[in-house]
Amino acid sequence: MAESSTQQSQSKKVMLSAVQPSNRLTLGNYLGALKIWAQLQKDYDCIFFAVDMHAITSRQDPEELREQTYRALATYIAAGIDPDQCILFAQSHVPAHAQLAWVLTCHSYMGELSRMTQFKDKSAKQGTNIPSGLFTYPVLMAADILLYQTELVPVGEDQKQHIELTRDLAIRMNNLFPKAPLFKVPEPYIPPVGARIMSLQNPLAKMSKSDPDVNSAIYLSDSDDTILKKLKRAVTDSGSEIVWDDEKPGIKNLLTIQAALTGKKVPDLVAGYVGKQYGHLKIETAEICIQAIKPIRDEVERLTKDKTYLTQILKKGAQSANARAQKTLDQVYKNVGFILP
Ligand code: TYM
Repeated sequence: MAESSTQQSQSKKVMLSAVQPSNRLTLGNYLGALKIWAQLQKDYDCIFFAVDMHAITSRQDPEELREQTYRALATYIAAGIDPDQCILFAQSHVPAHAQLAWVLTCHSYMGELSRMTQFKDKSAKQGTNIPSGLFTYPVLMAADILLYQTELVPVGEDQKQHIELTRDLAIRMNNLFPKAPLFKVPEPYIPPVGARIMSLQNPLAKMSKSDPDVNSAIYLSDSDDTILKKLKRAVTDSGSEIVWDDEKPGIKNLLTIQAALTGKKVPDLVAGYVGKQYGHLKIETAEICIQAIKPIRDEVERLTKDKTYLTQILKKGAQSANARAQKTLDQVYKNVGFILP
């Protein structure tokens, strides 16, 4: 970072967030996370990274993981994150994440980790051999956040419980060493609209990049044609009226997508659909999605070809992140009784 932006950033609160590069990013990732990061970035000292170490909690193809990590970084930039103002890096480039995670693991409880709904959901899909990393994953996420004295964590609804655990761990560690509290206690920021975009094939389940049914999610890499096809096929509800009703989760999802992308209010959108059919709603939602996604997709394509540029950003980001993370880690090591090297 330039000297002036470093000085400026020191007076701002730290905002931090991340995405798992375990697959191509979805419209849900964009609306629940990236779009919000870009909107809030100018008011915060921002740290965004790709959590490749989280991604290996489920089996990854190594080449794919490397490519998806570059692609995630490119997507951040394409979505409007300014690489000159924000620290951007890959989690595995900053060893302090794993180091702090171990200390926090020793201060976390089996009971609280067993209550994490994401662990319950993901482990249920794994069969018998559940990787223990899936169980301790929220502790690594807490380390990600606490290392940088983060105050705000913009995430979708599904990550709220992990942030609550992070807060509990921060408070627990601070209480153990009350003379010099180690961590800021972070707050989540969950956007009022778009924090839980649902699957297009099952509007009662979250849109997820790991869903094996590719028609359930809109990927930010989808062509205009694919977006249109997926939305035309989106599962809607019985009846034909376009209204905001809990009995109509499919319609609610499409209206939410429109509201989150356009900034329009749901009642205004609904008023515009009086007398129209589900087909109109699907096609217009597709048009709005295409308009938002096309420029991101094109820019990601351009950026992922320029590995020299992306590598340079990752290097610069890792340098800044390592320096900041090490300060917190040294203090933690000192407090728990390790001899500092
Ligand atoms: P991940 O990779 O599953 O998702 C990245 C971000 O996208 C949001 N999101 C959604 N928002 C709305 N609707 C959806 N259908 C949807 N699907 C995903 C997620 O809430 C998240 O904000 N554990 C995290 C990554 C992580 C992290 C961190 C986040 C690791 N360390 C530190 C913040 C701070 C995860 O797996 O996100």
